[in-house]
Amino acid sequence: MPVPKAELHLHIEGTLEPELAFALAARNGVTLPYADTEELREAYRFEDLQSFLNLYYELMAVLRTERDFEDLANAYLARAAAQGVRHAEIFFDPQAHLARGVGMGTVVEGLWRALAASETTHGVSTRLILCFLRDESAESALETLDAAKPYLDRITGIGLDSAEVGHPPVKFRAVYEAAAALGLRRVAHAGEEGPPEYITEALDVLGVERVDHGLRCMEDPALVERLVRERIPLTLCPLSNVRLRTVDTLADHPLPAMLDAGLVCTVNSDDPAYFGGYAGDNFDAVRQTLGLTEERLRELARNSFTASFLEDDEERRARYLAEVENYRF
Ligand code: HPA
Ligand code: ZN
Repeated sequence: MPVPKAELHLHIEGTLEPELAFALAARNGVTLPYADTEELREAYRFEDLQSFLNLYYELMAVLRTERDFEDLANAYLARAAAQGVRHAEIFFDPQAHLARGVGMGTVVEGLWRALAASETTHGVSTRLILCFLRDESAESALETLDAAKPYLDRITGIGLDSAEVGHPPVKFRAVYEAAAALGLRRVAHAGEEGPPEYITEALDVLGVERVDHGLRCMEDPALVERLVRERIPLTLCPLSNVRLRTVDTLADHPLPAMLDAGLVCTVNSDDPAYFGGYAGDNFDAVRQTLGLTEERLRELARNSFTASFLEDDEERRARYLAEVENYRF
């Protein structure tokens, strides 16, 4: 049994496995520009974030109905549960669907069908986080938040993803202020490909409570000191960093140095269908390649629950944390 953990950095569209992509394409009469799953897998060689995003957005064409989103989420939750995920805070990218004529209601209600039943079906509690695409305009983000207003009882927070460089957090000040006024929790991708300044800006201008990736904080010792002092969790995604060439090899990943520095690190899968592994696979990879001790692995699992948005269910958080402490590696 793998160590119990929460997954805090997971794009549901990034869990679309080739087999499901072809099944949904057939169901919806969509033609993919790949002959079969093998040929599609050949396309999974990425140069950087953008080259991945191109395929990620292309394959979304197969997601059309509530049932598609429900099936996608159920497939993820089943795989995550098998790898020890007890709680998942799931990102979704509504703008990528709205642009294709798929409504906010279709996306949220479809995902919700799977999420509402997830504790019973998969033994996984869940939260939903709406992400804005940072390479779209600030106005589009505000319109998207508006379109989500009928569904806010199902949405815990907001995030910021897609192409980072050239799209600093400050661009989204207004929508983060509006979301805060609506009582939504705030996170943002920062310091994946973008500079450490974007991390500082996400904290100071957007008021984020967690930083997604945040890897490049290691270039700025004063920022590291601040993140440690303020106990800001970072949602790291080691296998993603290798596939998108943010690090050269997994052996070069700064996770051990980050833990030694006292940063509140968590380990997550990002887009597991594309990056070669789910949450447990990421734990196994860092354990084997980076030689993390059992106590370090326990710390990562503990951090995942302390950093999760479970303030409305502290009893559950305490139960999960007790499971971590009692776990035998
Ligand atoms: N980074 C930025 N945007 C994304 C990612 C990522 O790793 N995955 C899906 N959208
Ligand atoms: Zn991500």
